[in-house]
Amino acid sequence: MTQKNSPLLAELNLLLADYQVFYQKLRTYHWTVTGPHFLALHAQFEAMYTDVALKADAVAERVLMLGGRPVTTLAEALRLARLKEDGEPRAAEAMIRHVLGDLESLAKVQRALSGKAGELGDQSTVNLLDGFVDEQEKTAWMLRATIAV
Ligand SMILES: [Fe+2]
Repeated sequence: MTQKNSPLLAELNLLLADYQVFYQKLRTYHWTVTGPHFLALHAQFEAMYTDVALKADAVAERVLMLGGRPVTTLAEALRLARLKEDGEPRAAEAMIRHVLGDLESLAKVQRALSGKAGELGDQSTVNLLDGFVDEQEKTAWMLRATIAV
């Protein structure tokens, strides 16, 4: 059920801000990764930022459906996001570890937010967020396998 002025709006916008920052980090890694796994990681980071763009769009549209206003500017996203930008030169393995950490943070906030949505009877938000977590668990497994952790 869609609820106008849902109490979930603020946290959905925080998640949207996280996704905006994550998107830019993945683009950075796509551009700057080097080493023996270049081809695989260059493609993997591109697949991930393409997926993150779709997820950000879905979150923004959920905010609108719930009667809110999504975060639109990069400045606002940077102010709100809990994930951090990364412009440092990094080895491929360090990039993967950063991405795994971000996926873990996203899983935590999305599971918590899904729980709140469930309590409010907002099944569409539950489905959206649970779907994200399921997909990202598989991505995390593949990344962990790449560096054998
Ligand atoms: Fe590219």
